[in-house]
Amino acid sequence: MERTFAMIKPDGARRGLTPEILARIARKGYRVVGLKQMTISRQTAENHYGEHKERPFFGELVDFITGGPVVAIALEGNEAIAGWRAMMGATNPANAAPGTIRADFATTTGENVTHGSDSSESATRELGLFFAAGELLD
Ligand code: RTP
Ligand code: MG
Repeated sequence: MERTFAMIKPDGARRGLTPEILARIARKGYRVVGLKQMTISRQTAENHYGEHKERPFFGELVDFITGGPVVAIALEGNEAIAGWRAMMGATNPANAAPGTIRADFATTTGENVTHGSDSSESATRELGLFFAAGELLD
C-alpha cells in the first residue's frame, strides 16, 4: 500500500469538477484517507512547488494555485503514486491520453485541474505539508 498527495487545483474546484474527480478516485478503488477544502498560503505554495523556483512560470504558478480554494486529498492504494499520475495524464492537456482527467477537462498547461506527487519522496513531503498527522485516517 502506498499513499500519495492529490489536489484539485483552483480551476477544477471553481468549475465544479470536484464530485467528478472524487467519483473517478472511488471507481478506481483508492481509499481517501484525508480530504479538505482550503486556500493555500503563498508560503505553502512556494514550498510545495519549490522544485520550480527558478523556472520562468514560477510566479504565475504560485499566483494561480493561491488564487482560490483547492481540495487537498490523501489517497491510499496499490501503487497509488504512479496510478494517480496516470489518471491525471500529461502535464500539457494537449498531450494527455484520452480518458485522463487533464485530457477530458483541461486545455492549458497552466490550468490543468489536478496535482499529483511525482515520487515517494514528494508524496511524503507533500502529505506532511498539507495534512497534520491527526487529519489522516490510520
Ligand atoms: P503538478 O506538479 O501540478 O502535478 O504537475 P506536473 O507534475 O505534471 O508538472 P510539473 O513539471 O511539476 O509542473 C507543475 C505545474 O507547473 C505548470 N507548468 N507550467 N509553462 C510551462 O512550461 C509549465 N510547466 C509546468 C503546470 O501547471 C504544472 O502542472
Ligand atoms: Mg509536479
